Amino acid sequence: MFDIQKIRADFPILSTKVKLKPLVYFDNGATSQKPKVVIEAISKYYQEINANIHRGVHTLSQLATDAYEASRIKIQQHLNAQFSHEIIFTSGTTHGINTVANGFAFILKEDDEVLVSAMEHHSNIVPWQMLCERTGAKLKVIPMNENGELILSEYKKLLSEKTKIVAVNHISNALGTINPIKEMIEMAHQVGAAFLVDGAQAVPHLKPNVQDLDCDFYVFSGHKMCGPTGTGILYGKEKWLNKLHPYQGGGEMIETVTFEKTTYAGLPHKFEAGTPNIAGGIVLGTAVDYLNEIGFEAISHHEHELLVYATEKLLEIDGLKIYGTAKEKASVISFNIEGIHPYDIGTIIDNLGIAVRTGHHCAQPVMDFYKIPGTIRASFAFYNTKQEVDELVDSVKKAKLMLS
Ligand code: ALA
Repeated sequence: MFDIQKIRADFPILSTKVKLKPLVYFDNGATSQKPKVVIEAISKYYQEINANIHRGVHTLSQLATDAYEASRIKIQQHLNAQFSHEIIFTSGTTHGINTVANGFAFILKEDDEVLVSAMEHHSNIVPWQMLCERTGAKLKVIPMNENGELILSEYKKLLSEKTKIVAVNHISNALGTINPIKEMIEMAHQVGAAFLVDGAQAVPHLKPNVQDLDCDFYVFSGHKMCGPTGTGILYGKEKWLNKLHPYQGGGEMIETVTFEKTTYAGLPHKFEAGTPNIAGGIVLGTAVDYLNEIGFEAISHHEHELLVYATEKLLEIDGLKIYGTAKEKASVISFNIEGIHPYDIGTIIDNLGIAVRTGHHCAQPVMDFYKIPGTIRASFAFYNTKQEVDELVDSVKKAKLMLS
């Protein structure tokens, strides 16, 4: 049973006020809110078992290590990864992508090619550009159509034996498009290329099955899926993680160190230099449990209803245009009102208690494609309601009236 009021009661922030108005939080694409179990688990960790992991023989260190490793296994099971050592804790999606891109610096040669799509977040563009600058490889872009859907026939033409890695998001943060990544992965594998999925916007809405997708890497952040900020996961197939050079050197990622030579630790420690975000890693597991208890089927059903309802209501506003009208869409609506700057709408509706993101959403090429400076983005989570959508629509109407 999907009991929305019970779910909302799990999130203390949802009953607070902003500018004296009840908060309507529609900036879930930027970060999700946190349920009490997550907030309390952070405090419990620091009150009861705080210690450094993998280091001490003392009891607390073992308790913290066990909790951290238990969380790794929980995430392995959540993603249906084959081995727990394929799960690398990171500080977030950006860290995960940079880890893979840096590893590929030792693999790519001049004239090799890296493919990204036209609807990537900057964090899935810039690390690859930096990689190409270092290696002489070329960055190619899979184009999209007006609806914000990738053009697979063009993707097919771009793939060749020169393609070494393809990096595409599972769901676009700026448009909400759900990309056909399973098919795209299969196509990349036909030319021998690896495939990295940026799952940052997908993991709050669906449960990825990495073995079924057959992706080589799947990266995401914890904070968008009810977990703490500064947490994330890089899943990589064992064969790839063994092949890649580590991104950062330091404690814990070594086997032996002398001044002449260092040998690296095995997986997953090779990619986990330094003291990690221990509390964060443990509590990410709590967040995963929380979401699974609600169930991703129920989550996606509710969010889809919100998407359909909000799309219909918003389109009733004269001059409102939605960017991103793909057939397969997550609960993200990017829009503008003719003749009004998105920032002005965002500021006025903030005064009415409504939190949305305005701007280019770290996806400037998407904005360039539509020749706009930015959009207003309302991104819905499973704890949002149709009544909140009504409040958004009313506020946008008021803002439009004030600004026209
Ligand atoms: N990547 C986050 C967003 O889309 C911050 O808002």
